[in-house]
Amino acid sequence: MGKALDGVRILDFTHVQSGPTCTQLLAWFGADVIKVERAGAGDITREQLRDIPDVDSLYFTMLNHNKRSVTIDTKNPEGKLVLEALIQKCDVLVENFAPGALDRMGFTWERIQELNPKMIVASVKGFGPGPYEDCKVYENVAQCAGGAASTTGFDDGPPVVSGAQIGDSGTGLHLALGIVTALYQRTMTGRGQKVLAAMQDGVLNLCRVKLRDQQRLERTGVMKEYPQYPNGTFGEAVPRAGNASGGGQPGWILKCKGWEADPNAYIYFITQAPVWAKICNVIGKEEWATDPDYATPAARLPRLKEIFAEVERWTMSKTKFEAMEILNKYDIPCGPILSMKEIAEDPSLRKTGTIVEVDHPTRGKYLTVGNPIKLSDSPTEVTRSPLLGEHTDEVMAELGYSLEQISALRVAGAI
Ligand code: COA
Repeated sequence: MGKALDGVRILDFTHVQSGPTCTQLLAWFGADVIKVERAGAGDITREQLRDIPDVDSLYFTMLNHNKRSVTIDTKNPEGKLVLEALIQKCDVLVENFAPGALDRMGFTWERIQELNPKMIVASVKGFGPGPYEDCKVYENVAQCAGGAASTTGFDDGPPVVSGAQIGDSGTGLHLALGIVTALYQRTMTGRGQKVLAAMQDGVLNLCRVKLRDQQRLERTGVMKEYPQYPNGTFGEAVPRAGNASGGGQPGWILKCKGWEADPNAYIYFITQAPVWAKICNVIGKEEWATDPDYATPAARLPRLKEIFAEVERWTMSKTKFEAMEILNKYDIPCGPILSMKEIAEDPSLRKTGTIVEVDHPTRGKYLTVGNPIKLSDSPTEVTRSPLLGEHTDEVMAELGYSLEQISALRVAGAI
């Protein structure tokens, strides 16, 4: 069966996490992704957080599936020529170097356009144009600058960053959408274009609801579904809301049976208005279904702490999975707090290809997260990440270099 992006060639000049997540997705959709790495060293993540000596780290392998690797010294004059040949052959150049690095290498937008006017040049940067545009940025810097950290955590504690890599992987997703959109537009215009996904912008896009709340706060001075209501105080900016749902249906994380020993024996419980009567029945507070102090969403808002305490008395008598089973029978929205161990062992995630076991020549078998986006006509087969420079000769031959030329370039240190 063909793949959605069959025939699309990507010059993958990405490293670390944000860029590689983008090109990995494109590879999963069928693009030929040629990762250009520094001769002799490669993507820095190959050697970071290693769990086996001298073997590509999980950090690297889990972000670079289905790609080919070529090593080119793009600061070597002959290496530059090889890169030029690749630019002429590819549809998209994806990069996430520090600001200005590609220009310093001699590959400005104008130069790339000269070489290939159809080329799409897609970049992840920390910030868009403005006071911080020259700054280097990593995941947590983006979470802080994009509004996530100031709105995450508890009111009485410091800002908190999330385990979800919304700055890196989140921006990679944004960039991938920008690339396929530009490819689509190119089918009509015949021209390439620049695609920029700034990490601050990507994080802010994912924190959109908090900018909504900022404006609500400025208008009304209070947000009744936040835990600060009714007894706490609101300042000028959106406060940290703990585990509040942040939407129109109040929720909270509640203890389940075994919480004393198991740090993940918790459930997320949502007091969804349409099933309020069922919630009252399940927790044995039938009278709350008709009591005017509890019967309507508005009446419940100032009493949420008391309500969740009562629900928790019930959830503490069940394991998170028992509670799930009972609550789902009544269509009460809830979700277990799953540990990474539980997720890794989940048979249904294995079945859908969301968790995949991959074999690697030097590492052996390991688990990875497969393609979370499922296309019925373009299924994903996850294949292992390339070894450093594994495909240099193969790609050079495809570019028209002879064996002798390849050897000479190797001797010159260009590849
Ligand atoms: N051959 C020769 N030189 C190469 C090369 C190759 N194949 N590949 C990269 N280089 C050079 C670059 O030209 C650059 O040289 P220069 O500084 O002399 O111009 C150098 O390697 C380092 O690149 P840089 O991107 O600055 O790496 P860094 O390790 O200093 O910074 C980041 C890492 C992630 C902070 C930075 O790349 C960045 O801010 N990227 C944008 C935001 C981003 O994606 N952040 C998330 C990362 S998960």
